Amino acid sequence: MSFNRLAPHYRRLEWLLAGPRLQRCRLVHLEQLAGCRDVLLAGEGHGRFLVAARRRWPEVRFVHLDASPAMQSAARSALVNAGLLVERVGWITADLRTWTAPPAFDAVVTQFALDCFDPTELPGVMRRLAGALRSEARWLWADFQVPDRGWRRRRAQLIVAAMYGVFRPLTGLSARRIEPVAPWLEEAGFRRSARVESEWGLLAAEAWQRDGHRINPA
Ligand SMILES: C[S@@+](CC[C@H](N)C(=O)[O-])C[C@H]1O[C@@H](n2cnc3c(N)ncnc32)[C@H](O)[C@@H]1O
Repeated sequence: MSFNRLAPHYRRLEWLLAGPRLQRCRLVHLEQLAGCRDVLLAGEGHGRFLVAARRRWPEVRFVHLDASPAMQSAARSALVNAGLLVERVGWITADLRTWTAPPAFDAVVTQFALDCFDPTELPGVMRRLAGALRSEARWLWADFQVPDRGWRRRRAQLIVAAMYGVFRPLTGLSARRIEPVAPWLEEAGFRRSARVESEWGLLAAEAWQRDGHRINPA
C-alpha cells in the first residue's frame, strides 16, 4: 500500500472531486482540541488539517504520522506555503498497522484514513492508536460513510464504490469498503460527544472523549 504516486496530485484531485467539502468536514470539530498539548495526526497525508490546526492552536505540538514520505513532503510544502514553521511539527513515517507508542498524546485525529484498513487490520490499528493516548483523551474522526437507507444510501454506495475502484489499483489498498470504527472506540473507553453529517449523509465528522479510563491495547 502506498499513496506516494498520488501525493503530488492529491490536493488538486480533492478539489476537483469534492471542492471545499472534505476540508469543511475536517474542521467541524477543530475547537475540540482546546486544552490539548500533544496531538497525533494519524494518516494525515497532504496536511490540510495540519495547516488549519497549527494556525488555530499554535501552542499545541502536532505530530504528523503517515506511511507515505511523498504525502509528508506535500504536508511540509503546505506548511511552508502557509508561512508556518515545519520544525514546530513532529514527523513520523510509519505504518499504522505496526506502529506503537507509549501513551503520550492528548488527542488523535484520523480523517479519511481509517477507511484504508480492512476488517483484519482495523482493530489492531485502533487499539494501537488508543494505546498511544493518555487516559483522558479525545479522538476526532471524519470519513465517508454509507447511510442506512433510501436514495442517500444508494448515492453513497455508488460514490464509495467508485472511490475504492479508483484508489485500490493506484495505491494497493486492501480495504474494499468502509468499516465502522465506533465499536473499537467504545472498546477503548471512548464515548461520542459530537457528530455532524454532511453531503446527504456521505460525510461524517465525530468527536469522541475518554475521561480517565484507559484500556491497554492488546
Ligand atoms: C485517503 S488519504 C487521507 C489523507 C488525509 N488524512 C485527508 O484528510 O485527506 C489516506 C492517508 O493515510 C495514509 N495511510 C494509509 N495507510 C496507512 C498505513 N497503513 N499507515 C500509515 N498511514 C497510512 C496514506 O499514506 C494517506 O496519506
